[in-house]
Amino acid sequence: EQGTSEQGTSEQTAHNRIAIIGGTGLTELSGPDITEVRSVTTELGEPSSPLSFGEWQGRDVVFFARHGHPHKVPPHRINYRANLLALQAAGATHIIAVNAVGGIHAEMDSGKVVIPHQVVDYTWGRESTFFDGEFRPLEHIDLTHPYDESLRGVLIQAAKRCGQSISDFGVYAATQGPRLETIAEINRLERDGCDLVGMTGMPEAALARELNIPYASICLVVNPAAGKSDDLITMDEIRAVIESGMGEVRDLIANALPS
Ligand code: HPA
Repeated sequence: EQGTSEQGTSEQTAHNRIAIIGGTGLTELSGPDITEVRSVTTELGEPSSPLSFGEWQGRDVVFFARHGHPHKVPPHRINYRANLLALQAAGATHIIAVNAVGGIHAEMDSGKVVIPHQVVDYTWGRESTFFDGEFRPLEHIDLTHPYDESLRGVLIQAAKRCGQSISDFGVYAATQGPRLETIAEINRLERDGCDLVGMTGMPEAALARELNIPYASICLVVNPAAGKSDDLITMDEIRAVIESGMGEVRDLIANALPS
């Protein structure tokens, strides 16, 4: 599909299309003028949601809900490969992923926005590569820097421009879910050097790299990780932080788009 009629002229080929993957709390995105909603399928199955094409801040964007809309696919059942193939077929040149996370490091308070720079993957049993020797021949991609440094820079600059005091680095621990962690598990992640914990950061980031699409994440801390506060973790608490914090994430993306 790409490179043929739809992207025939050099002007269009040079065109960027920014994909935004919304996570928990961001199943719809107010902001873009959505001009088309397209349900697609891929060689590797059904993606979690239709693609919403539109324009935002003069930029061509495509929005995608990782868990489906309304929210339904649990983290370990998401067809990450189909999701990424769908975004590639949609002509995504960059991917901005939004992830709700638990805070491990003392500075990762609820409501904090973080642009992570590293990942530790604790997930298991997920289809996590295109290069499995079946869909594509075996290949070992480099993932030294799991997030695209230049796209991270764009997000960090955008946060500065709109006066947000974000954290411009952090190590993301990807856990299997859907349950939250035990205190001992969080202590282990902390000893491993992890600052944040979420369930959807991998294999998404690695798959984007396999497709050579620059990918960065905006994490919103929605709760202190297990044992990091005196209280148990409740969905009500998480929902409240999402409610108050996703606006900041939206502003950050809007500010990042024109640069
Ligand atoms: N752990 C794992 N994933 C999460 C959490 C958490 O505490 N909060 C939001 N996503």
